[in-house]
Amino acid sequence: MLQKRKELKNCMKCLDELHKEISKRKTHKKLMMYMEKLNKLQSEVDKRQGPQDGRFPIRESLKLPHPIKLPEYTIRFADLDNCGRELVEDALNARCNAYAPYSKFKVGAAFRTKCGRVFTGCNIENVAFTPGCCAERTALGKGISEGFRCYNAGAVVAFHESGYSTPCGVCRQFIHEFAKSDIPIYIAQAPELSTKLPAFEDDDEVLVTSIYNLLPHSFSVFSDK
Ligand code: THU
Repeated sequence: MLQKRKELKNCMKCLDELHKEISKRKTHKKLMMYMEKLNKLQSEVDKRQGPQDGRFPIRESLKLPHPIKLPEYTIRFADLDNCGRELVEDALNARCNAYAPYSKFKVGAAFRTKCGRVFTGCNIENVAFTPGCCAERTALGKGISEGFRCYNAGAVVAFHESGYSTPCGVCRQFIHEFAKSDIPIYIAQAPELSTKLPAFEDDDEVLVTSIYNLLPHSFSVFSDK
């Protein structure tokens, strides 16, 4: 009987996780659908208005990559959806393992695959400097080497007193390679590393940007990316 109860409890837990995953995917798809609609309407308005002072709005250009971008905003940690909250927390935990004896700048990252798995990473420095690796590329490298090439969200956590630490240029291009469309990137300021188990507070602010906002004119040799 005890065994059956345990089995039932495990099954309920799995079901709960699946439910969460399904609702996350639905929200993301809906958001992308609305963004596409909004951008089409914006293009229509731009076209009707014509050039302003001889300048054409950027949306008119079909040659530039990524005319359709996700919105960029800040939000309280407590108001993030489950997907975002989980990712920034995973990135914060990964940051605890950062190996940064030279810069002392610790970074954690987490990326979610399209099937819902999360890979985390931290920065790994080296005495010879150039072999060092950023947290974002450590996380993605772990996932890619396990066969996961498509990601639908990412998070980066570091601490700098002047504000958010967004991914470096190389990491932006690296992330871009493994995103089929625009994906949200959550950026959070880590709480001080004085405690063994750092955690976010409800009122902590998180910047929600996206890979197309971070790298609008990315390099690509493919016309469909
Ligand atoms: N770093 C990252 O981990 N991610 C970035 O996007 C920018 C920089 C790391 C590299 C190095 O270990 C430290 O931060 C200082 O540059």
